[in-house]
Amino acid sequence: MKFGKNSANNPLAVRTHEEMMEVLISPEPTGPAIHYFMIRGGNEQGNITIWQFGTAGDEYIKTYGHYHISDFIETYKVLWGEGIFLLQARRLGPDKKPMDNEVEYVKAIYVKQGSVIKIPKYAGHLLANTGNSWLMTIDDSPVNFKKPARRKAGEVAWPEHADYAPVKKMRGFAYYIVKKNGKPAFIKNPNYKNTPEIIIENA
Ligand SMILES: [Fe+2]
Repeated sequence: MKFGKNSANNPLAVRTHEEMMEVLISPEPTGPAIHYFMIRGGNEQGNITIWQFGTAGDEYIKTYGHYHISDFIETYKVLWGEGIFLLQARRLGPDKKPMDNEVEYVKAIYVKQGSVIKIPKYAGHLLANTGNSWLMTIDDSPVNFKKPARRKAGEVAWPEHADYAPVKKMRGFAYYIVKKNGKPAFIKNPNYKNTPEIIIENA
């Protein structure tokens, strides 16, 4: 799906099923054509994200997930619906660089309309829609329409402050959030060398 080059006058971006297949628990599940919609305004106007409801295979509709490569703290506010944030931090290797397959901790934070979550510096994060309606958030991450994005030039769906490559390499975060007996359940991603027990919190 093509919306042309993004600009302040063309701020809509989407994440397709095809792109999300890279990070789902099962390589070819069924799912909606578009998993989430993004309207980009940056830290002044804000960025709106709207998630589809339901699942792709057994997995709740989620964002792709990324690590920040700069040290800003991103703030999300939930405007509608409910969901679960996954936060994880990578362990540093002997060269002091983060290792993609080892994590220090993984946290699941249950959020609902009105919740405000601050993403710690450099933390990996994604958000899954575990409710029955659309999920909608606003966040303050920077958007630069002039500089090419990291993955597709000129497309704000892959902003330059965020690194998606380690998530693609590991086929997702250290846990997947699946629907089991009508409720969220956490399944370890076997591609990680270590998966600490998940820490559950309510916002
Ligand atoms: Fe982010």
